[in-house]
Amino acid sequence: MKIILGPASTTLGEKIAELTNYKKVPVTHRTFPDGETYIRLEGNVQNEHAVIVQTTSTTQDTRLVQLAFIANAAKRNGAKKVTAAVPYLAYARQDKMFLQGENISVETVTAMLKAAGVDALITVNIHAENALNKFPFPAKTLSAIPLLAEYFVQKGCKKAFALSPDTGAMYIAQQAQEVLGGEAGHLDKQRDRHTGQTTQTAKGLNVKGKTVIIFDDIISTGGTIAGAAKILKEQGAKKIFAACVHPLLVGDAEKRILDAGVEEIVGTDSVPSHVTKVTLAPLIAKALKAQESG
Ligand code: R5P
Repeated sequence: MKIILGPASTTLGEKIAELTNYKKVPVTHRTFPDGETYIRLEGNVQNEHAVIVQTTSTTQDTRLVQLAFIANAAKRNGAKKVTAAVPYLAYARQDKMFLQGENISVETVTAMLKAAGVDALITVNIHAENALNKFPFPAKTLSAIPLLAEYFVQKGCKKAFALSPDTGAMYIAQQAQEVLGGEAGHLDKQRDRHTGQTTQTAKGLNVKGKTVIIFDDIISTGGTIAGAAKILKEQGAKKIFAACVHPLLVGDAEKRILDAGVEEIVGTDSVPSHVTKVTLAPLIAKALKAQESG
């Protein structure tokens, strides 16, 4: 195996290469004056299983095009297999037609990656796991929640209450609970599919006087976490922290969350940012090693 260092995840790719002892292949990338993307592999992938480490956050469309171009370059230069290791898979949330007239974005994105040369994909905490069934190649999602929970154990928050801001993501709170060893619970969240507005409610939650960590897959605008924190404050929580796998932190998301009473936001290097305190490298390295031996 060789690790191709995608421009969006160079540092993560280097860490994975170090942990696995696989050779690195750097990538030269440029943007042409008209905005188009140029890439070139700076290493040999002939007859190799090439693993491209490239997240697709922040400038999603550009990052996806870079990933597709790198996959094509790997195949054109003789790679026998191409695996895309994509911590944050853009467009994964549009995995069905919620309203008449919509498209299924993740279907198009994965078809594009397959056409470019991707043979398999590894992602981390995809929004809805059953989306993987529609992918045109073998795909798996890993969970970074235990690593995030471990960060809080190290910080002295053992036994903290693990909260999911949404019923559907209760499994996330349960994964955190296994590491933290305390209680777990969830809020209920409803979304208006036309306006995108969400409302959150708490039923039978007992967080009075407790340290609560809100775990979510994504923080985008911060509305979900800020809304959850407001409810937790009303219910008498003592301390509130927020953890997410993909800290997109759009606009003033961070301020919104801190203003709502959250003491600290913790994210992973799926989306490198100043709240990144946990690396996905061991998680992805282990999955690659397992793939090689399996
Ligand atoms: C959606 O259900 C996800 O799990 C996140 O809760 C959501 O994407 C967070 O978005 P925002 O930060 O904009 O509320």
